[in-house]
Order: sequence, then structure tokens, then C-alpha cells
Amino acid sequence: MSENSSPVPACRVFAVRVEPSGRTFEAPESLTILEAASFDGLRLPRSCRNGTCRTCMCHMNAGRVRYTIEWPGLSKEEKVEGFILPCVAIAESDLVIEVPHATEI
Ligand code: FES
Repeated sequence: MSENSSPVPACRVFAVRVEPSGRTFEAPESLTILEAASFDGLRLPRSCRNGTCRTCMCHMNAGRVRYTIEWPGLSKEEKVEGFILPCVAIAESDLVIEVPHATEI
């Protein structure tokens, strides 16, 4: 790489641990958590993939996410309690999520 090349913004990648299995995968900020899990061979429960059906809803034990849509189908209380929708959530830190029905693809 030459010294004159323009800097390319680095894509941050975070580690996600799925409980109770302890399975981990990497979640780059370019993918939703659901997509990142799929790329790593892990199937999380899903249906609509657009944040409305709540099939993917799970508890986040640790970490921080942001959403790809303005109004993910979660109540204010659910958000406060730590529930997330992985199909429209992007990791903003390392995460621990609770997904008992996650399966290897
Ligand atoms: S799959 Fe429907 S809300 Fe996530």
C-alpha cells in the first residue's frame, strides 16, 4: 500500500456469544446479527427479517446494538429489559445473547 492511498474506513467487528451453548461468531457492523450468525453457520430463529414478526426476539445479556429501522417491533419496556430483534439489529459492542433454539446449519 502506498503512503498516498486514501484511508479506507475500517469495518468494526464484534464478538457475539450465544447462550446457553456458548457458541461464538463475529458480527461486522456491515451485517445484522442474524445475517452474521448465518454467515458463520448458525441459524437463529427468524421469519419476517424486517423487525415486525418478533420471531427472532431474544434477550441480550450484555452489549449494545443499534437498529437498521426506526421502529423495531419492541415495546419501550422490552428494550429496557434487554430484548432485541437480531434481524434488524447491528452490534455496537461485543454481545452476549440468549438464544436456546439456535441451531448449526
Ligand atoms: S424475524 Fe421477524 S422480527 Fe426478526
